[in-house]
This record gives sequence, C-alpha cells and structure tokens, in this order.
Amino acid sequence: MLALALLAPACTGGVEGKPGAPGVRDPYFPKLGNGGYDVTHYDLTLDVDPDEQTLRGTAEITARATQDLSSFNLDLDGLTVDSATVEGRPAAVNRAGSELTLRTDPKAEDRLREGETFHTVIRYSGSPKTITDPDKSEEGWLPTDDGSLALGEPTGSMAWFPGNNHPSDKATYDMRVTVPKGLTAVSNGVQAGPPTTQGGRTTYRWHTAEPMASYLAVLAVGRFETKTSTMAGGITVFTAVDPESAEASARTVARVPEVVTWEAEHFGPYPFSATGAIVERKGDAGYALETQNRPFFPGPPSVGLLVHEMSHQWFGDSVTPASWRDMWLNEGPATYAEWLWEEEKEDTPAQESFDEAYADDDNWAFPPADPPSAANISDPPVYGRGAMVIHKIREAVDDDKKFFALLAGWTKAHRHGNATTAEFTAYVEKATGRDLTELWKKWLYGRDRPAADG
Ligand code: TRP
Ligand code: ZN
Repeated sequence: MLALALLAPACTGGVEGKPGAPGVRDPYFPKLGNGGYDVTHYDLTLDVDPDEQTLRGTAEITARATQDLSSFNLDLDGLTVDSATVEGRPAAVNRAGSELTLRTDPKAEDRLREGETFHTVIRYSGSPKTITDPDKSEEGWLPTDDGSLALGEPTGSMAWFPGNNHPSDKATYDMRVTVPKGLTAVSNGVQAGPPTTQGGRTTYRWHTAEPMASYLAVLAVGRFETKTSTMAGGITVFTAVDPESAEASARTVARVPEVVTWEAEHFGPYPFSATGAIVERKGDAGYALETQNRPFFPGPPSVGLLVHEMSHQWFGDSVTPASWRDMWLNEGPATYAEWLWEEEKEDTPAQESFDEAYADDDNWAFPPADPPSAANISDPPVYGRGAMVIHKIREAVDDDKKFFALLAGWTKAHRHGNATTAEFTAYVEKATGRDLTELWKKWLYGRDRPAADG
C-alpha cells in the first residue's frame, strides 16, 4: 500500500499503458478476441460490389478500456487496412495473421486509460475471404449466385469487419450497406429507415439494439423477397427469401411468429425487438445458423429446423457461451427444443427422442462439455448428448411447470449476457435445491455411456 501511495504522484505525469492481450485464451481458439478493452458498439459502413466480390468498409468501434493501454489488437482476416485512427489521431498498424495491432499516438494515450471510452476508425477494402473452419465447414464471406453471404460461427466475422471477435464481448451494431440497385442487403435487427437509392446504388440501414456476439452478425446480399410485419408484443418480423426458395419456404416461414410465441411460453419472454428469417437458394451455403434476430437457412427450412434455430435466440444469442467450450449450452437446449416441439405438436414424446439419441453411438464420442478439439465443437455429442442432459434435468425436476420455469429463469438470469457451464450447473442446483453431482458426472462430463435410466 505504502509503495503504491508513494508511486502515485509520479504516475500522474504519464502512466505507461501496456499492450492489450492478443487473445482471450479461449480453450479452442486462443487467438480469437483481444484483451484490454470491451467493445460497446460497432458502426459499420459497407459498400459491396457483388460482381467483383469486393468490399469497401469503414468500421467505427466504440470501446471501453479495461486497462491502461499503449496498444491493442483487433481481429481481421484478409482485406487491406487503408487507414486507422484512435480518438481521431492516426494509429500505427501492424498485421500478423488475423491480429491487427494498433499503436496509438502517445498524445492519445491518456484517452486509453482504464475505464475510458475511446473510438477507433478503420477504413479497409479488398476481396473478403472464405474461412474454412477446423471442422471443414465454410464461413466468413461466401459468394453466392446473385450476391454474397457473410456468416460467422465460430470465427468468420473477422473476414468482413475488424473487431473483438469472441463471444464474450457483445456489443450493439449499426450497419449501413450499399449494394447495386435491385439487390437487397439483409442484416440483423431492424431497419433504421427506408432504403435510399442514389446513382444506381441502394443503401440499407440495420440497427441492432440488443447486445450481439460477433459470430451472430449476418449480411446477406442478393435478390430477396422481403416481408415486414409486427407480431404480438410489438416485435418486428422481417423475412427475406430468395425467389427460388420462396414457394417451398412460404408455409414454414409464415410460422415464425407461431414458433416464437410457442418458445416464449417455454423459455421465457422473447429477448429481442425483431425476429424473422433469411432463406437462401439451396446450394449457396451448407448449413443453417442462428444469426441474431433472423436465423439463416441454406434453403427452404423444415419446421423442426426453424424451431431449432429460433430457440437459439434464447440459448446462444441472448445467453451467449463465455467460450467455445460452452457450445453445448447452445446446442443442447436447441436440440431439446426440437424434441419438445415433436412432443407437443407431433405426438413423439421427448423420451422417445432421448432413447433414439441414447442408442446412437455418434453421440458418445466425447462428453458434451469437453470436446476434444476445435474440430469437434459442433459434433453430435454437443447436440444429442447436450439435449440428453436437459432431459435428465427435466426428469430430476419431475414437474413440467417447474422445469419450464427453470429454463425461463436461466434465460432471465443471463439475458443479453454470457454464461459458463459451471454457472449453468450451479444455477440448476440452486433452482432445484438439489445436489446433482451424479447427473453432471454421468451425463455432462462422463466418457462412458451410463445406464439410460441412470
Ligand atoms: N450452430 C449451427 C446450428 O446449430 C450450426 C453451425 C453452423 C455450426 N456453422 C457452424 C456449428 C460452425 C459450429 C461451427 O444450427
Ligand atoms: Zn444449433
């Protein structure tokens, strides 16, 4: 204490900031994210040329320093940085892999003290790249037949904007996207105004009011049939469907409000001010993704897939995993949402779905809360065994009213935040007033298949 007190006056002349860490030590993606600051808002202005598959962007990032900084990193994979400023002063840029280091003008350093809010502006351009995940799926920037598609689970958002690319740092977003007239740019949130056309190009404005993890940001450019309506609770419903998928999608896409309402009855109030869906042409992408507000589908979805992706709005989007190890907190409940839908709407008891998943050897490759590597974070155990854990909790509670209250309590406790597996198990034990050590040991962490009724 004494030493600190003695040092303090000497420091007022100019605290030496330290570099922010280049990663947040995610167990599967150690370089994702960055230390030393917390982003509160991304303001992205993007100009997309679908013929050339190029992008010109300005990212204005508002962040709060969580330490005194001399430099800090952003994640950006590919593209060219044309200029960078921090607090309006030019910043020196260094790039190594997907790490972008910004060293600020020493005169700006007092704006980067712990607790201060600062603004970074990056101008960038180039041909955004497609990123291949450790599990070989493709994300980042995906050219399509009539435009492009930007998807980001787990790492892809850094292919189209610089940022703190880790689920633990959620922020609000504004996106202003300019595309050739005749094409539509669809993203998250609500439209901040009608599109405006000038010189043969149309600008769309999207506003995401609730915090969002970077992996849930989406940008779909192309020909889309769009519909806007308002459902109960004043929630905006915006759907965008590729004309080629329109007919085959119409019935399921029309059920978005019904699915949102049904899920809200089981999981707690819908966490966002907007919902909807984006449906691409079959063949333009390989998988569906729970992009915030507006899940993405690679072609006409089944109602089961809609139920799955929409349930992620609670499990994943509003309550976001603290690290990629906690992925089962997304996929377990989302798979269980499908089982519940089948139980209530299609006369297949969840127990039957459980039995089927239990019998499937693929679900037993590893424990859901401990995938062996980054290539396995979306493997069957994360989904199937994850859902089995939820079913076992339902059995332990042995009262559906209490079980659904428990799920709603979880989404309420971490609404718009992050959560770990340890927080989940502690929450369930507190909510049930029971020691569930055995349940976690067998179903969540155990390597071997326990007895089905164990
Ligand atoms: N989360 C998506 C879902 O459940 C699946 C998915 C899409 C995914 N892309 C991924 C999972 C990349 C892990 C990695 O619908
Ligand atoms: Zn899922």
